[in-house]
Amino acid sequence: MRYGYFDDANREYVITRLDTPLPWINYLGMEDYFGLISNTAGGYSFYQDARLRRLTRYRYNNVPMDMGGRYIYLRDNLSGDFWSPTWMPTRTDIKDYSCRHGLGYTIIGSTYRDIRAEVRYFVPPGQNLEIWDLTLENRSDEERPLSVFSSVEFCLWDAQDDATNFQRNFNTGEVEVAGSVIFHKTEYRERRNHFAYFACSEPIAGFETQREAFLGPFRGWEDPRAVAEDATTDSVRVGWSPVGVHRLRETLQPGENKRIIYVLGYHENPPDEKFDPRGSQTINKRTVMAVIETYLQEENIDAAFAELHQAWDGLVGHLQVRTPNEHVDRMVNIWNAYQCMVTFNLSRSASYFESGIDRGMGFRDSNQDLLGFVQMVPDRARQRILDLAATQLESGGAFHQYQPLTKRGNEAVGSNFNDDPAWLVLAVSAYLKETGDWPVLDELVPYGNTPGTETPLLEHLTRCLQYIIGNIGPHGLPLIGRADWNDCLNLNTFSSQPGESFQTAGNGGGRVAESIVIAALFTLAASELAQITAHVGMTDEANRLQGLADGMAATTRRYGWDGAWFLRAYDHFSKPVGSTENEEGKIYIEPQGLCTMAGIGIKEGLAGRALKAVETHLATEHGIVLLQPPYQQYYLQMGEISSYPPGYKENGSVFCHTNPWIMIAEAQLGNGDRALDYYLRINPSKREVMSDLHRCEPYCYAQMIAGKDAGHFGEAKNSWLTGTAAWNFVAITQWILGLRPDYDGLRVEPVLPQGWSGFTATRLFRGVRYDIEVKRVGPGNQVALAVEGEPVAGTLIPIPRADRVSVQVTVG
Ligand code: GLC
Ligand code: GLC
Repeated sequence: MRYGYFDDANREYVITRLDTPLPWINYLGMEDYFGLISNTAGGYSFYQDARLRRLTRYRYNNVPMDMGGRYIYLRDNLSGDFWSPTWMPTRTDIKDYSCRHGLGYTIIGSTYRDIRAEVRYFVPPGQNLEIWDLTLENRSDEERPLSVFSSVEFCLWDAQDDATNFQRNFNTGEVEVAGSVIFHKTEYRERRNHFAYFACSEPIAGFETQREAFLGPFRGWEDPRAVAEDATTDSVRVGWSPVGVHRLRETLQPGENKRIIYVLGYHENPPDEKFDPRGSQTINKRTVMAVIETYLQEENIDAAFAELHQAWDGLVGHLQVRTPNEHVDRMVNIWNAYQCMVTFNLSRSASYFESGIDRGMGFRDSNQDLLGFVQMVPDRARQRILDLAATQLESGGAFHQYQPLTKRGNEAVGSNFNDDPAWLVLAVSAYLKETGDWPVLDELVPYGNTPGTETPLLEHLTRCLQYIIGNIGPHGLPLIGRADWNDCLNLNTFSSQPGESFQTAGNGGGRVAESIVIAALFTLAASELAQITAHVGMTDEANRLQGLADGMAATTRRYGWDGAWFLRAYDHFSKPVGSTENEEGKIYIEPQGLCTMAGIGIKEGLAGRALKAVETHLATEHGIVLLQPPYQQYYLQMGEISSYPPGYKENGSVFCHTNPWIMIAEAQLGNGDRALDYYLRINPSKREVMSDLHRCEPYCYAQMIAGKDAGHFGEAKNSWLTGTAAWNFVAITQWILGLRPDYDGLRVEPVLPQGWSGFTATRLFRGVRYDIEVKRVGPGNQVALAVEGEPVAGTLIPIPRADRVSVQVTVG
């Protein structure tokens, strides 16, 4: 069952049924100001940090769900009837509802009693504000006197404190009103020099700044007293819950259109210019009025909207493909690229599953996200790399997370997730392959954000690997620490107290438990760094690193092979995990993909057998599950993985992040059909037809799909903020379509599915536009290239002199 459709030409998903299984959301903003918006206008906004600079309040776990958002109420002043054109929160029986989620904007419209209303929400590029662009149309043949109410509920900035510290918070709320602008300035009197504002293009008939005054005691957002009675108190009071509500009176003639613009924004004043007049407690508004006035003008916001479109044209324009499969095209050209930008912007902080309070930027997550967006925003990728490297420790280990506002490592979570450093090497390698920006290796970067500790970035990378080989266990494999990529395989924690963190409780520094995943990542990272150092002329270092990679690969073949697949780990007692010896968790997906990607056991035929085992034991119609059989009970020595019911999360769901590793591995072994088949099993667009089962948005990946051992096999959860976005983008574009940036040029090495006659692509790479045409000429995988009709040996196109070249590729 579908709840809408893809409008590919406009790059939109159009939701036409209100009763989506879950709120289906979109993101506004791409620099500092962000918002989440659902298909019924739920959600919230923040500046830079979803926890520390939250502009509007949102209650996760609310009932009915998705209450709290960017709501407008329309009141028919003849009948007294009122409704919300976005359906929530009044849930009136509106007609012709549609929600168009596009790249960086959302448009929600509906009709009620012949009043058509449409609201376009977006953040203008470069601005710290959002626009609500409301258009009303009277489609009746009578004059219609209306009242129009806007509403936002302000958050008192720190979203955590806002939800817990009521003994203080009920006394601190402060606002100011000037003309049609409502200013939220809680704590501005003391240490904050920022405030929020909510402006309106029309003269107002009244306003409200207190939630209780607007709603009335014991009433909710579905039935505000002020709307029901068309009355506002125009009061400015201190404390309780500040809101922003404008009340307008608009009479529409038959056929008349009316456009009303609201601007919700964030502004900072220089500390010594906070007040006007000086010495007062009144906000200095001179610094912000020009911005407000600019974005209350129709022509300016239309120009900003066009600019937003252009910005996205530019971003997704780095790669456009036309293949025989619409789900491939739609995801590659539009939605997967878009989701990669969202994960770049937000890491794992704010979605409808991540509250924006809990997690900052993850070290491993952000490094992997980079693989999916580096081609779109290389300069920002460079900065991200330098920020991440600055949270690395002198030991070569890394803070597992950092806060985006301060860019400092998060002490509470600490370090000792022993896979973390390997990902930095892989991120830098991807960045170099995309950009050829070799000087980045000389950038001076501190450790643990401590001034005076700076070394060149290249030294950071060396220390990453040094950290891993400095922490080797009894079999010569890397120690797992608190966790490797799988956060829930906690072999050193032994947590027995409810509420403890499985990652940080207990002894994360055990010297016995080892990880085959880190062994594979090390092998991969060491051979990349060998190539990088060779490239800058450090031949001895390159040889040393390649030696380390080869050594780890040999150790993995020796101690990491279970007989028919790769083992997952050795536990605290040196007992194998992910082995036929185990009763549960006999086979795990991660090492099968990652060892193959690292080239371990390909020659020896181990990789092929491992992938066969994946197909036999782990592949399902809804994707490849993480392990089999799942753990049926909690095991102290396994940790969080066994805390989940069978089939959920790391305990045997289709943990989508891992599936592309298998697609890549299959492509590396030349199995294009199987790679594409696995790709399509979790492709959101392909799954659109079963939206009632899948439940999450059909235009973005979710972290997990319940596995075959779960009660709701096929149900997705935790959409948007997942490494799945980057890895699927890499799997389909670089390995199946085979358009793969490399240190010295663009490599073109498709592993085409048998049924495909070919495909075309345009790729912008290092300032050159490649027009690529791939044709299948036989059943094999042999690739032959020609550039401008001239044959080129091998599969690498050396950087051309021209700024545009055509590439002809045959596969057979
Ligand atoms: C979550 C985490 C990620 C981890 C994965 C597997 O997606 O953000 O860091 O690798 O789960 O546990
Ligand atoms: C929980 C989740 C896991 C996530 C981790 C982050 O363990 O199950 O997916 O990576 O939290 O700390």
